[in-house]
Amino acid sequence: MTDADSIAVKAVKQVFEQRSMYDAVVTGNYMHHAELVAALGAWAREFGRPLRIVDLGCGDASLATKSFAGARVEHYVGIDLAESSIEQVRLSTAAWAGRVELICGNLLDALHGMGDGSANVVLASYSLHHFSTADKVKLLGEISRVLEPSGVLLWIDAVRNEGESREEFVDGLACEIKRDWTLLSVEERQRAAEHVLASDFPETERWMMEQTAAAGFEVVETLLKGESFRGWTFLRLGGR
Ligand SMILES: C[S@@+](CC[C@H](N)C(=O)[O-])C[C@H]1O[C@@H](n2cnc3c(N)ncnc32)[C@H](O)[C@@H]1O
Repeated sequence: MTDADSIAVKAVKQVFEQRSMYDAVVTGNYMHHAELVAALGAWAREFGRPLRIVDLGCGDASLATKSFAGARVEHYVGIDLAESSIEQVRLSTAAWAGRVELICGNLLDALHGMGDGSANVVLASYSLHHFSTADKVKLLGEISRVLEPSGVLLWIDAVRNEGESREEFVDGLACEIKRDWTLLSVEERQRAAEHVLASDFPETERWMMEQTAAAGFEVVETLLKGESFRGWTFLRLGGR
């Protein structure tokens, strides 16, 4: 990791260590968590098999615990930079006691240390857009390796429209946050907008489709189709 990368990661960690701002984002449903819980819950019922989950940038793990409350969870690995989130996950995953592993650190390094085929579900919800394009390619390769054949990547993220630059996307989202995310205090809205301007690097849907295919995935289902936020299920095809 270069010095610039490490400074960028520290800036993201600092934002998410203070939990109240993102808690208000989830409560206000500004990033469609309610729809995601419904879609992921329905997906898990359809999947049918016991889940061995790796949750990349898990936050407080409330998305996973709510979505998979009715599923058989055999193993859950939660990874996050923020110590405060990992502390919270210890409480929120109590129902899965004895089957939970928590890693406080950079998710790219954590994935690198995991065995081939050691999971059948990777949940990447609103965390991969903090990585550079080159690192996202590396991440997709690592996710593909860590998933067993027929495992599933659940990728939810900020997405740019075709022809929209990164600057246009982050400027637009920062304006929307300051104007519409009124459950956050004025100071929190300012901090959230600054975080987006400094640390969000969303890709286009086409790029996401091409790069997941190159990493051995096939898109199966849409989980969320918003203007700025979208999500899909990707099946890891057998053999590489
Ligand atoms: C927008 S929140 C998403 C939380 C949760 N997954 C959800 O969907 O609500 C992004 C999370 O990713 C974590 N994160 C960002 N970059 C990371 C990195 N390089 N390694 C580990 N965690 C990271 C942040 O600490 C934060 O908790």
